Amino acid sequence: TNPSLLILPGDGIGPEVMAEVRKIIGWYGDKRGLNFDVSEGLVGGCSYDAHGTPLTDETMEKAQEVDAVLLGAVGGPKYDDLDFSVKPERGLLRLRKEMDLYANLRPAQCFDALADFSSLKKDVVAGLDIMIVRELTSGIYFGEPRGIFEEGNERVGINTQRYTESEIERVARSAFELARKRNNKVCSMEKANVMESGILWRAVVSEVHEKEYPDVELSHMYADAGAMQLCRWPKQFDVIVTDNLFGDLLSDAAAMLTGSLGMLPSASLGAPMANGRPKALYEPVHGSAPDIAGQGKANPIACILSFAMALRYSFDEGTEADRLEAAVEKVLADGVRTADLLGEEGVNPVSTSEMGDAIVAALEAS
Ligand code: NAI
Ligand code: MG
Repeated sequence: TNPSLLILPGDGIGPEVMAEVRKIIGWYGDKRGLNFDVSEGLVGGCSYDAHGTPLTDETMEKAQEVDAVLLGAVGGPKYDDLDFSVKPERGLLRLRKEMDLYANLRPAQCFDALADFSSLKKDVVAGLDIMIVRELTSGIYFGEPRGIFEEGNERVGINTQRYTESEIERVARSAFELARKRNNKVCSMEKANVMESGILWRAVVSEVHEKEYPDVELSHMYADAGAMQLCRWPKQFDVIVTDNLFGDLLSDAAAMLTGSLGMLPSASLGAPMANGRPKALYEPVHGSAPDIAGQGKANPIACILSFAMALRYSFDEGTEADRLEAAVEKVLADGVRTADLLGEEGVNPVSTSEMGDAIVAALEAS
């Protein structure tokens, strides 16, 4: 049977960029004999319009069954005044929560042709390809006790950093599994010098490494030093695994090493299913971009690279993922640019659909 993929285009530019991914999926079926059992559903505002809820139980069930979910984006001004319980982002939050997606993957990848876009020196970022794995469902954003309390005659704000051994183990496994599909190298970041949770984090990651992944190279770094090293020489890293808070900061910083929002894919992974594949949701980092929706201006590359991640991490098609990324690189090297990749004075941008066609043509030539 073919691997199954649920496509949820969502709102705004979501359906526009997803149409380009569909061309690529079609190409893989026609030309590489790589077929997917593709189904499609609604999420976000469009689901609210059709069903009065940002995600139906039926679509939720489907998401639990498939090998991977690919989502466009949700939201838009039309839905800003809706009640919190039916807001578009609640659909996305429900998917993440019920699929228990505890490992958030944020690659920082810099195509040579776009190295000038980065705020860093060209040789620091050109060819950069690293992956930050952020623990997403625990840590200081969720730990109890939390709240603002009266203490003496003043208020005190409290959050608790709390990690159980099993929470650390499972995200460490996600990182080591990814490393095996990449360059076999993991750097774990915490603050074991000043935090109890950091001491446990370092110990548990080391134990998982020793018992289950001795073939992968593991190093540890304090997260503040890691932030510095990420800016100084990011190419020293391959996979970085870290907690929710540090991962939030480090992944946003790393994203900016590479330039435009229209280029950034992401994935969220959960526990392995019966077939050994992790539960997985792939999506571009960007939102529904209402300011350019419906105008054919959106850059489809973030969504296309999200599909490349699905090829590599859900479908064990690393060679085909390489092929797709190389096609993107080729098109960029040829100077094909959507408006977001041209800056202020940009001339001759291509449309969303022209970018998709160019990538298919580059695949064809590969
Ligand atoms: P946004 O990411 O939608 O847009 C920010 C800016 O980047 C805009 O100027 C937009 O035109 C540009 N941009 C984004 N993606 C682009 C692409 N592929 N090609 C070219 N330009 C692109 O973030 P914003 O404006 O803060 O939010 C808009 C809506 O999206 C809101 O309703 C928000 O809640 C929602 N949103 C949804 C997310 C998701 O579905 N995961 C994530 C972030 C925001
Ligand atoms: Mg953030």
